[in-house]
Amino acid sequence: MSNIERGKLIAGNWKMNGMSGDLTEIGRIATISRAEKVDVAICLPATLIAPAFEVAADLAIGAQDVHQAEKGAHTGCVSAAMVKEAGAELTIVGHSERRQDQHESDADIKAKAEAARAAGLSVILCCGESEAERDAGEAVARVTGQVAAGLPDGASPDWLTIAYEPIWAIGTGRIPSAEDVAEIHDAIRAKLVDVMGDAGNGVRILYGGSMNGENAAMLLAIENVDGGLVGGASLTAEKFAPIVEAANAAMSA
Ligand code: PGA
Repeated sequence: MSNIERGKLIAGNWKMNGMSGDLTEIGRIATISRAEKVDVAICLPATLIAPAFEVAADLAIGAQDVHQAEKGAHTGCVSAAMVKEAGAELTIVGHSERRQDQHESDADIKAKAEAARAAGLSVILCCGESEAERDAGEAVARVTGQVAAGLPDGASPDWLTIAYEPIWAIGTGRIPSAEDVAEIHDAIRAKLVDVMGDAGNGVRILYGGSMNGENAAMLLAIENVDGGLVGGASLTAEKFAPIVEAANAAMSA
């Protein structure tokens, strides 16, 4: 999954969904991913990573979080090396649901991204404002602040992707206007170039939050939108396929 030429990436995020009976769906998603030029990944609950790798070894399988420590006394957590060994090649870090539910800070997220990289995983680093922050005109500052504070040391487009996910758009069916998406993605790009120099131009920036087969083409046509992080609509191949196809069409346009 090289980001260098910034081809599109559509990454599914299954969240706390998926039992062994859903592995057939993973097989179907792998079939879709083979047919298109866009990069496709699916971030699964830890329990499904190894079985998914068995049914779809050529699909990029991801975790949804890793602990920042290599190993040790952290009951209930999994390390980057553990998910890598199970078959993952990437992980999400800093999803807003973890920032909220597990009280993860930007410093935690930076450490997780660095631990993931040290274990050989690619990283999707999430950021996004709350509705109150957007209403207060603080969205750009909030998001660029999260990117700057969470950016792992030695960040490279070879393995780092950013996902912009406005919290109020996740799972709600609401999405920002194209202008608002463009404004945030441009601001993230500028921040990446500011911190990383020219390499910041190679980092993919995904949009996430209620992306589906109907709105994907519009979202993926926006400059600096290099793909999507898809929750609900990634759970079945039927809903996921039109998003992957829209990304493919956007790459050919
Ligand atoms: P959603 O979730 O597509 O269901 O809104 C996106 C995410 O939280 O990654």
